[in-house]
Amino acid sequence: MHRNIVITLVVSASALLGVAAAQQKPAGPLVEVFKSPTCGCCSKWVEHMRTNGFTVRTTDVNDLTEIKASRGVPDQVQSCHTSLVNGYVVEGHVPAADVHRLLKEKPAIAGIAVGGMPAGSPGMEFPGTKAQAYNVMSFDKAGKTSVFAKH
Ligand code: CU
Ligand code: CU
Repeated sequence: MHRNIVITLVVSASALLGVAAAQQKPAGPLVEVFKSPTCGCCSKWVEHMRTNGFTVRTTDVNDLTEIKASRGVPDQVQSCHTSLVNGYVVEGHVPAADVHRLLKEKPAIAGIAVGGMPAGSPGMEFPGTKAQAYNVMSFDKAGKTSVFAKH
């Protein structure tokens, strides 16, 4: 066989093996993130979610009011980005661990949220800035909120 052909075959075989290896790794739950194209802290939260086992797909939108309204995110817990995962809404800088807990416990709520953008929440860590205490709130379809987790 021609040397070049042998090399090509070896290269494509290892590329196929690489693809197979990547497919064997179980994909984490899909998080669909809606964010504004210029949001830096949103992208940092996306990185945090990927690092913690989630598959993330992002969609840039210029106006997030419609998705927040249609998904019933109460005004007082709104933040920069809105995500959907397994039918739940995840609003703002919610820690990945709380999203894992949400998917495991499957409570009868519409979603969870960290209102505003508290310093120290995932994606909102800035060197030299003191972390704030904040709550992850749950909310239901009627807009009723309660504490889901304290940080
Ligand atoms: Cu943010
Ligand atoms: Cu954001």
